[in-house]
Amino acid sequence: MLDQGTAPPATEPSAPKASGLSALVRRKPVDVLVAEGGQGEGGSLRRSLSMWQLTMISIGATLGTGIFVVLGEAVPLAGPAVTLAFVFAGLTALFSALSYAELAGTIPVAGSSYSYAYATMGELVAWVCGWCLLLEYGVSVAAVAVGWGDYLNELLDGTIGVTLPAALSSPPGDGGIFNLPALIVVVLAMLFLLGGAKESARANTIMVVVKIAALVLFCAIGFMGFKSGNYSDFMPLGAGSVGAAGAILFFSYIGFDAASTAGEEAKDPKKDLPRAIMLSLVIVTALYVLVAAVAVGAWDWKKFEGSEASLAAIMNDVTGQSFWGTLLAAGAVISIASVVLTVLYGQTRILFAMSRDGLVPKVFGKVNPKTGTPRTNTVIVSLFCGVLAAAVPLGELVNATSIGTLFAFALVNIAVVVLRYTKPELQRSFKVPFGPVFPVLGFAFCGYSMYSLDMITWAVFGIWMAVGLVFYFLYGMRRSRLATAEK
Ligand code: ALA
Repeated sequence: MLDQGTAPPATEPSAPKASGLSALVRRKPVDVLVAEGGQGEGGSLRRSLSMWQLTMISIGATLGTGIFVVLGEAVPLAGPAVTLAFVFAGLTALFSALSYAELAGTIPVAGSSYSYAYATMGELVAWVCGWCLLLEYGVSVAAVAVGWGDYLNELLDGTIGVTLPAALSSPPGDGGIFNLPALIVVVLAMLFLLGGAKESARANTIMVVVKIAALVLFCAIGFMGFKSGNYSDFMPLGAGSVGAAGAILFFSYIGFDAASTAGEEAKDPKKDLPRAIMLSLVIVTALYVLVAAVAVGAWDWKKFEGSEASLAAIMNDVTGQSFWGTLLAAGAVISIASVVLTVLYGQTRILFAMSRDGLVPKVFGKVNPKTGTPRTNTVIVSLFCGVLAAAVPLGELVNATSIGTLFAFALVNIAVVVLRYTKPELQRSFKVPFGPVFPVLGFAFCGYSMYSLDMITWAVFGIWMAVGLVFYFLYGMRRSRLATAEK
């Protein structure tokens, strides 16, 4: 049994034998995980990312449709207390972010929570976590690409007065034939990623600066229309409304963990990953609360109900000119493109780590020696996400991204506690304060947010997990590299 520090063989089994139930709990030692960092089939990932770029990757993956679109849906649920709902959702994210920071600094590898679960709770839980990450990253990138197409249409309408016909901007079943813009943005992101991690990180940094500038501009203009009377009844729908709005706003925090998937390309991962994760969360939370506060200050919260409320509409209203709304739509097009880029990046790196462990096919672990990136993996993942976005009505699957993410976050909180007890001697560059209290709180917040989601979301999640388990028992369990090592 491979358990203490022996690297498993590099080859994948061609005719695997069945493993017993112990296979489900076999763990991958932390030292092996760390020692393998960067290595893929045929080459190594290149370490090129600085702390600043890692922070931008996390902000890039986080700041997007949540603030530009979901805010408008959350205001009618909570009124001006939507600002508190952002704080509530941010707290759920904060406790989990602390846990991510500790584990990313201790086990800085590309698999993120999948690898942390492998080291602490065993292969089956790791697989379940990796399968949830496919929802958090792969499915959400498709959903975000669809949102990008909507903003592109708004921008085209505002600038040249033309919009794409429905046939070319929706999938079959949603009134169209093909969602061309969704495919285009994924293909553009793919081209950047093929160029290299450093080049993609540079492009992402520029896009992040633009999106922060767009939101700051919104705050400056929205503030001119601020009416304190809009706050006279801060919580018109009761305290429970804050939790309900917080549960849907949690979507806007998804992505802060993206830096942790860059563990094998960071220049100084142990030091920089915890900093990048925490810094990005602080910046994003501050922006969200500020934007929400200005939005409900400029517009009475009841105006959001059933209306086409958006940050662009508020800007147009305050200034009386459509130019500002169009400018914001341009900002949103760039913002959401950076979510697609960074989330796609994260998905390729998670599959890279899973492939190295033998749980998904070897092709995902091949590294191109010229660019130091997993090129074939990038093309496969991009085409999969692009076609998913362009040709499949995602419907309920999109709602399941939040529950999948919350589940993965809950596992990360448990992993911190397990690793503290099983490997207390490990060097940790960052430690969650107050021992197990914060991770337990993080777990509780995630559990409560999952509980707040509706039955349909749970049912879709159940089906998704069942499919994942079938895949594991038919493929991963027998092809796992740890299984080979056991023979
Ligand atoms: N947090 C990301 C967004 O809001 C998924 O677009």
